[in-house]
Amino acid sequence: MQQTLAGKNILLGISGGIAAYKCADLTRRLIERGAKVHVVMTKAAQEFITPLTMQAVSGNPISTSLFDPTAELSMGHIELAKWADLVLLAPATADLIARVAAGMGNDLLSTLVLATDAPVAVSPAMNQQMYQNIATQENIATLARRNMMIWGPGKGEQACGDVGMGRMLEPMQLVGLCEDFFAPKPLHGRSVVITAGPTREAIDPVRYISNHSSGKMGFALAATAAKLGANVSLISGPVSLATPNGVNRIDVTSAEEMYQASLKLAKQHDIFIGCAAVADYRPEHLATQKIKKSADNDNMHISMVKNPDIIAAVASLTEARPFTIGFAAETQDVENYAKDKLQRKGLDMICANDVSVEGQGFNSDNNSITVYWADDKKELGFGSKTELSQAILLTALGQID
Ligand code: C5P
Repeated sequence: MQQTLAGKNILLGISGGIAAYKCADLTRRLIERGAKVHVVMTKAAQEFITPLTMQAVSGNPISTSLFDPTAELSMGHIELAKWADLVLLAPATADLIARVAAGMGNDLLSTLVLATDAPVAVSPAMNQQMYQNIATQENIATLARRNMMIWGPGKGEQACGDVGMGRMLEPMQLVGLCEDFFAPKPLHGRSVVITAGPTREAIDPVRYISNHSSGKMGFALAATAAKLGANVSLISGPVSLATPNGVNRIDVTSAEEMYQASLKLAKQHDIFIGCAAVADYRPEHLATQKIKKSADNDNMHISMVKNPDIIAAVASLTEARPFTIGFAAETQDVENYAKDKLQRKGLDMICANDVSVEGQGFNSDNNSITVYWADDKKELGFGSKTELSQAILLTALGQID
């Protein structure tokens, strides 16, 4: 097991929700990755999972009360608050969230949250109606405003039989968020704007011309850039992908809309990555009514005009020009076409892949990429789009610095 959390001290605060039973597994997964875990439980949490279970899996005594002389002897509550590198409240019930929002210290867990200067992550878990309640929503917004991280909740079936928002994130999702939190942040202080997905060029009110781009590469880049600490904007064409955590998403439909959004945002960011499969042409005229099939016409002609080349326009900015990275999806002679594109569009870097090979590129979760810049190249090889995103961003960083 990779020791992604080696030496990290995590204070796990459990409050009284049914999801508390998942905390044993969560604790094991954190420890497996090298973390040290101390568990604090509210009185209600102990109705859902026993302190004995949590002690066995964490390997540490469980703290449950503010007024426990023996616990204060081993590690007092202020000491515990100082020990933590991260305080994770999971599950965080509506009641715990309300008490934290109000700044109360009426039990050990809420007192620890007041007493710590470690970052606090809150993983809400409650009935969907309680989650939607304006009081809960306002309390969560208050915590977010105070820079607490809000992890979840997820959506789905609930223990009470309801369906909706309010499920605690699964233990492995919380582990992933802890890993992201502790991961090095080489892009801290940088901003990245990424275009992703296809564009849709309308023919009439019901039809359009588009392509098979899934948006997966651009979304993986956005998620990874955010994870590496960048401030990320993602200009997305129509795709069916969830917005990555911490990413500012701008939805567009046509190339023209993507062009407008890109030129505006490019000037406000340090790095521009053109990952979208922008339609090269669009119908010259947009029919205002649905075009009808006619008995005497077996052929139909649509006159097309060229769309603006978004990335070339960004690369030719004379003021506030970002470091500009393009993509070249080719089916043959990849190196030559990629280098030609690099030069012709005035890019700083281009990521080239051969989309004629099955199992990589379009719609796949994997890709195989070589990066070219003016005087050199780097083979990043075959990998998941997430792994390649990290390699692309770190290669770009090497060129910028
Ligand atoms: O389509 P093409 O192979 O020229 O795409 C190469 C690069 O140019 C990609 O990064 C793509 O996002 C970008 N591009 C663009 N605007 C266009 C066409 C392509 O930004 N109209």
